[in-house]
Amino acid sequence: MYDQVETFLNEQRSSHLDILQDLLRIPSVSADSAFAGSVREAANFVRQQLAEAGMEAAIHETPGHPIVTGEWRKAGADAPTVLVYGHYDVQPPDPIDLWTTPPFEPTIRDGKIYARGATDDKGQMLTHILSAAAWLKTVGRLPVNVIFVIEGEEEVGSNNLDNFLAAHKKDYACDVAVVSDTSMYAPGIPAITYGLRGILACEVTVKGPNRDLHSGVFGGSVKNPLLALSEMLGKLQDDNGRIQIPGFYDGVTALTADERDRFAALPFDEGEFQRDLGVKALFGEEGYSTTERRWARPTCDVNGMYGGYTGEGPKTIVPSSATAKITCRLVPHQDAKALTESLKDFLQDNLPQGCEMEFRTYHGADAHVFDTSGPFFQSASEAIKHAFGKEPVFIREGGSIPVVATFSEIFGVETLLLGWGLNSDNLHSPDEHFSLDNFYGGIQASARLWQELGQGGK
Ligand code: BES
Ligand code: MN
Ligand code: MN
Repeated sequence: MYDQVETFLNEQRSSHLDILQDLLRIPSVSADSAFAGSVREAANFVRQQLAEAGMEAAIHETPGHPIVTGEWRKAGADAPTVLVYGHYDVQPPDPIDLWTTPPFEPTIRDGKIYARGATDDKGQMLTHILSAAAWLKTVGRLPVNVIFVIEGEEEVGSNNLDNFLAAHKKDYACDVAVVSDTSMYAPGIPAITYGLRGILACEVTVKGPNRDLHSGVFGGSVKNPLLALSEMLGKLQDDNGRIQIPGFYDGVTALTADERDRFAALPFDEGEFQRDLGVKALFGEEGYSTTERRWARPTCDVNGMYGGYTGEGPKTIVPSSATAKITCRLVPHQDAKALTESLKDFLQDNLPQGCEMEFRTYHGADAHVFDTSGPFFQSASEAIKHAFGKEPVFIREGGSIPVVATFSEIFGVETLLLGWGLNSDNLHSPDEHFSLDNFYGGIQASARLWQELGQGGK
């Protein structure tokens, strides 16, 4: 039976590529309200694909962007129920000038498809819809029950998804979750990701004088908000890369010797990594390898800061305010909510006299690390080996997918993070792309996964 599916997949390559291109043409940028209509258009497109695959498909309104679901539950009570998650929203395409071809005009060069969302997450997400469609169109059934939940707010923190899932706790009860929104370890080295970092995101504004002032007439008589903010931010980290927010490392799970060994055993060329990033030296928390720093240690970053005059040429002012966007990456057992408060208090405590501070929280999600010894991870491993010709390595990654912690809290299930992308796919950057081999390989691995999970049972 599986052979039929595989034959069908090979025949459908060009139609699958057409579907991917059609979805990539829709500029579903969730962060920018100017794109709200396109976000909805992408939701409708996904709903249509789920329906055409043979699932019961629906759009669910939220206070933000809609959630799309698709269900097929005729595999029987003994077959596992799999919740497949993905996101149809994308990051803003900026800076647009740096794209070789326009971000929403998908273009194929060198076996890769270039467009915003190609790898994150439209291309990866579609692999599961297309593989399910292949089973339903050829065999007429799937070896597992499936519930697809495809959201439109992942790139802005998934703020409405937890409520939606909590409200459907009974309807979407499942045995395992599947997500393709991560990366392979390297080209030709497929991976299963068993841990992700959490995140907290916020913004701080330091306010000084009630208007921009002439820096000759008034400079020296009031605290400069940009300097005040710089001083505050400068205290976030010491020279050894340790974050100085009180309590930041409380409860952080230490890496075990075994895990450190497994990280160290993965092929990694530090010099090449450094050259690729174009820096003269790497920097991070003392006592940890680059891989450990990226996957398993918490961080604090300033994502952007502004204030005063940023246009061309000089301007002699003391600005009236300064703003910074801050994110922390979190590891188990840090609490995103509690640490957001600690960060706010830390900034407030370090606010220079004469200034005022405003603090805004954007989103937060806890980290999650899975136990990989169960049968579902084995099934995923078999499926990947079948499609990519290589056994996957087990890795952790530093990025965040907020819902992964929620799946474990609400449904008590593990999530199989099966990335078909590459870290070199320029996700969130200009010239984002997705290798077509990995797109087709992902569809095949997904099709095989339903078979393996069905055979493995609950
Ligand atoms: N797909 C990424 C997360 C990711 C990328 C995980 C690569 C592992 C490897 C996801 O779309 C993403 O960008 N998430 C955001 C979090 C969100 C709350 C804004 C992130 O990690 O910045
Ligand atoms: Mn993503
Ligand atoms: Mn992303």
